Amino acid sequence: PLRSVVVGLGSYLPSRILTNEELAATVDTSDEWITQRTGIKERHIAAPGETTSMLGEKAARAALADAGLGPEDIDLVIVGTSTPDYTFPSTATQIQAALGMTRGAAFDLQAVCSGFVFALATAEKFLRSGSHKRALVIGAETFSRILDWNDRTTCVLFGDGAGAMVLEARESEGSLAERGILTTHLRSDGRHRAKLHVDGGPSSTGTVGHLRMEGKEVFRFAVGMVTDVVTDAFAATGFTAADLSWFVPHQANRRIIDMSAAKLGIAPEKVVATVHLHGNTSAASIPLALSVARDDGRIKRDNLVMLEAVGGGFTWGSALIRW
Ligand code: ACO
Repeated sequence: PLRSVVVGLGSYLPSRILTNEELAATVDTSDEWITQRTGIKERHIAAPGETTSMLGEKAARAALADAGLGPEDIDLVIVGTSTPDYTFPSTATQIQAALGMTRGAAFDLQAVCSGFVFALATAEKFLRSGSHKRALVIGAETFSRILDWNDRTTCVLFGDGAGAMVLEARESEGSLAERGILTTHLRSDGRHRAKLHVDGGPSSTGTVGHLRMEGKEVFRFAVGMVTDVVTDAFAATGFTAADLSWFVPHQANRRIIDMSAAKLGIAPEKVVATVHLHGNTSAASIPLALSVARDDGRIKRDNLVMLEAVGGGFTWGSALIRW
């Protein structure tokens, strides 16, 4: 059977860093409040005119270079984003054009903060079917553009950035010891819109709108959703928390990350956290965190890596990778 193997990884962050102290000068907040409640210390913010596809293109180029491949080697581009450049065409086609690709298929996928895991699971199924050979899976966001910068309960939480992964379809014996994506689990429940949503859109208000969140309500559900899909991945493979090399969760909030890991019995030293540096970058957070942990030498070939995300909708999902 075919399996999707990770052959490249890259990321990009806009150069402008916005610290908690700077935010405290514009809204009624403090470094202490933000740090205690979320673990966030700073986040990157896209420059005026710097769009989601520009961030995604840079991450994609880094991932291709890491793989030793060129755009001509890719036949599928999937971009997880909730902050596209335009209502249409898709951000994926903008990145495709920027990379100089004229073959293959490119499309966006919208699952908010779960976007990268949903895109990875989708690409994995395309590759495993044999229909496509190599995929660029990108999470790219400019949440700074949909924040209400006067609302201290949301504007302190998010940042901009992008990450990308190159997947390649390879023959495998089907063993869990072989490299590649071993299992993915996706869930959604649309009854929860009000808890985390953007109050605009082309077909409702005709405006872009701003992010709105009932933080306490999101928090109440988040840990349960995380443990749900990670438990599904354990059940599907027979692995336990002790078998994991690394746990790379969506980076929304340090308390959600730590509570989830504790409930799952995952040792704190296996948890990869970058939320203090990036804030919540939605669909970009997992490939950004993976890049940090791969580049600093933590994540190595053949490691067992559990990805997990929860986002608006609600949507939630996991992916278990033999790196
Ligand atoms: N600075 C200072 N005070 C603030 C701020 C701020 N930035 N934001 C809110 N407060 C105030 C509130 O107004 C409130 O004041 P009051 O008691 O006078 O009314 C007080 O702090 C407590 O507010 P709560 O909302 O109860 O604070 P809580 O402890 O729940 O923390 C937080 C808020 C951090 C948003 C928390 O609920 C949370 O982390 N929720 C999860 C949401 C999340 O991570 N979402 C990310 C998107 S979803 C995803 O990616 C999974």
